Amino acid sequence: MTAAAAEHAVPRRILVTSALPYANGPLHLGHMVEAIQTDIWVRFQRLRGHECRYVCAEDAHGTPIMLRAEQAGVTPEALVAQMHEAHQQVLATFGISLDNFYTTHSPENRHFAELIYTRLRDAGHIARRTIRQAYDAERGLFLPDRFIRGDCPRCGAPDQYGDSCEACGATYAPTELKNAVSVLSGSRPVQRESEHYFFQLGHFETQLREFMASGALQPAVVRKLEEWFEAGLADWDISRDSPYFGFEIPDAPGKFFYVWLDAPIGYMASFANLCAREGLDFDAWWQPGSDTELYHFIGKDIAYFHTLFWPAMLQGAGFRPPSAVFVHGFLTVDGQKMSKSRGTFIQAATFARHLPPETLRYYFAAKLGEGVDDLDLSFADYTQRINADLVGKLVNIASRCAGFVHKAGAGRLAGALADPALQQVFVEAADILAADYEQRRYGKAVRQIMALADRANEYIAEAAPWQRIKQPDGAAEALATSSQGINLFRLLVLYLKPVLPELAAQVEAFLQIPPLRWDDHRTPLLDHAIGPYRPLAQRIDPNAIEALMQDARQDLAAAAPPAAQSATPADAAQPAPIAEQIAFDDFARIDLRIARIVAAEHVEGADKLLRLTLDIGLGERQVFAGIKAAYEPASLVGRLTVMVANLAPRKMRFGLSEGMVLAAGPGGGELFLLSPDEGAQPGMRVK
Ligand code: 2FM
Ligand code: ZN
Repeated sequence: MTAAAAEHAVPRRILVTSALPYANGPLHLGHMVEAIQTDIWVRFQRLRGHECRYVCAEDAHGTPIMLRAEQAGVTPEALVAQMHEAHQQVLATFGISLDNFYTTHSPENRHFAELIYTRLRDAGHIARRTIRQAYDAERGLFLPDRFIRGDCPRCGAPDQYGDSCEACGATYAPTELKNAVSVLSGSRPVQRESEHYFFQLGHFETQLREFMASGALQPAVVRKLEEWFEAGLADWDISRDSPYFGFEIPDAPGKFFYVWLDAPIGYMASFANLCAREGLDFDAWWQPGSDTELYHFIGKDIAYFHTLFWPAMLQGAGFRPPSAVFVHGFLTVDGQKMSKSRGTFIQAATFARHLPPETLRYYFAAKLGEGVDDLDLSFADYTQRINADLVGKLVNIASRCAGFVHKAGAGRLAGALADPALQQVFVEAADILAADYEQRRYGKAVRQIMALADRANEYIAEAAPWQRIKQPDGAAEALATSSQGINLFRLLVLYLKPVLPELAAQVEAFLQIPPLRWDDHRTPLLDHAIGPYRPLAQRIDPNAIEALMQDARQDLAAAAPPAAQSATPADAAQPAPIAEQIAFDDFARIDLRIARIVAAEHVEGADKLLRLTLDIGLGERQVFAGIKAAYEPASLVGRLTVMVANLAPRKMRFGLSEGMVLAAGPGGGELFLLSPDEGAQPGMRVK
C-alpha cells in the first residue's frame, strides 16, 4: 500500500486551535500570521481526507476589557459581542476556515472552568494565601501592574509601567516604582491585602518533564522550558478580586478566575459548543488516552501558559494533554517591531480593503517555517513575490495554455499526456510536499512548488503551442502540449490549495472539476472540457500599498491612546442605538444597487467630500460622498460598492449628487465603505 493510500485507510481525528484574540481591539497583521499558519495546516489535513476541526473564540474576560467597556459606556458583554462580530468577519475575509469561533464568556466555558477548578481543588492542587497588592482607593480596584506608572527604580526614566522599564529594560515589582500613580485615577496606589487562590504548578513537574520530552514541543521551546524548570515552577495566582469581568470562583464569593485561567479552557468550550451543534462526542476527544489529536498554534509570548499551566491543568483535572504545541515568532515590518509611531501597526481589515487577502496568505506561507523565528513583512518583497510567483509564474501557465485548448481542441483537453515523464516529476513531488506541510515547513513547500512552476513554464516555452498551431497539421500538437501545460498547472494549484483556497476554487470552476483532493494528483485530467480562461490574479498596484499605509496611519489616529492595554487597543466605539422600526414595504422602496467606482476625485473647496463616478450597469451616476478623510481617491477606483440608486437628486454647491453610497463608521473620520462579495456585478439589485 502506498503512503497516501495508508493515509486514507486511517483518517485521523484532529482538533486544532489558534490563540484566542482579546476582545478589546481589532485584529492586526500579527494575529493574521497565526490565523493563516493554522488555517493552512487545517486545510492541508482536510485536503488529505482527515477529520480536522478548527476552533477559536473571543478572549472576553479581564480588567482591560472591563475598563474599556466602561469607557465606551457599554456593558462588557456588549463590547465583547461587538468585537466578536468584527473579528469573525475579518477572519472570514482571510479565508480562515474555523468550525467555530465562540467566546470565553459562555455557559460552556463557565462549566469547564468550574469543573477544572473543583477537580484541581479536590485533588489538593489549589492553595490560598494572603498577598499585598497595589490598590486604587479612588476607583476601588486592585491594580494590575500595567495600570501603574512611575519612575524607573533603576534608571529614573519617568512614566514607566509597573512591571518593566521601556528605557533600560529593567523588570521590577510595582512597589519599587518611584512616584507611582494609578493610570485610572492619577491617585497614589496604596498597598492592600487580599486572599488569593494559587494553582500549584510544581505538583506537576514530573508530568511536565515527560510532556517536554515527548516530542510535543519544538527544540527552541524545550530549551525555554528547561530554563523554566531550572528557575523552579512557582505557584500561579489564578484569582482576582471584584470588580472583575469574568467568572466568580464557585466557593469564593467576590473572587473571580483570572482571565488566563479560563482562556485556554475556552478551546474546550468552543469545541463543546461545536459538538452540541454537530452531534460530536466531546468526551471521545478530551478523555485521557483519546486517539484523537490536539494541537495549539500560539505565539512565543504565551508559551509559558500553553506548555506549563495548560497541560498541568488538563492532567490535574483528568483530561488529555495536547499532542503538540506549535509556537511561532512575531511579525516585524521592514525588519522592525510593529510600531504605532511608524504607522506599521496594520489592521487586518485595513489590509483587506486595499489588497487581496489571499496574497497575504501566500506571502506568509512563503516565509513560514517550523521554528519560532520572527517573520518579516516587507512590502517591496511582498510585491515582488506576488507579481513574480503568482502572476508571472503560476497563473501565467494557465493563461498561456487555455486559449490553445479552445482553439485547437474546441475546449476539450487532449486524451493523453504529451510528456508523461514531466507529469511524473510533478506527481512525485506530492509526498515531499505533504511532509513539508505536515511539519509546517510552508516556505520550503512554496519554494519547491515555484521551482516546479518554472519547469512548467520552460516546457511551454519550448513546446510553443502558439507557433505549432500556425503550422499545417500543428493543431494536434498544440492541443497536446497546452493540455499538458494545463495538467501541470492543475497539480501546482492542488499543491497550493491549503494556501490559496480561493484561487483553487476559481481554477476548479475554470477546469470544470469537483473540489480537488490531495489524492487527485495521481490522476491526470484528460479528454475533459474546460471553461474559458478568466484572469486569476492581478499584479500588486503600488498605489494600493500607498493607500493602505495611509489608511493604517489613519486607523491609529482614530484609535484612542493605548492607556493601560497590553494588546492593540483601538477605541471600541459605542454602537448607535437601533433606529425606529420600519415596515418591509418601506425597505422595499429603497433601490440599492451594486455600483463600480469608475472615477474618484477631490472636490475643490470641499473638506469632506469626494466626487465619485459610479457605473451601475444602467449608465453612470455622479455622487458626492463624505468619505474624504477615510479614503485616498485613487484607492477607490475599480472597487465595487453599494449605492442608493433612487434617492432624489440633490443640487449641491459642487454639482448634482445623484444618489448615495453606503458606508459604516463610528464617526471621527473612520469609515468603512460597504463592498459586495465576489461575483456581484454593477447594476445588480441588493435585497
Ligand atoms: O495573548 C493573547 O492575546 C491571549 N488573548 C491569548 C489567549 S490564548 C488561550 F489560551 F486562550
Ligand atoms: Zn529604567
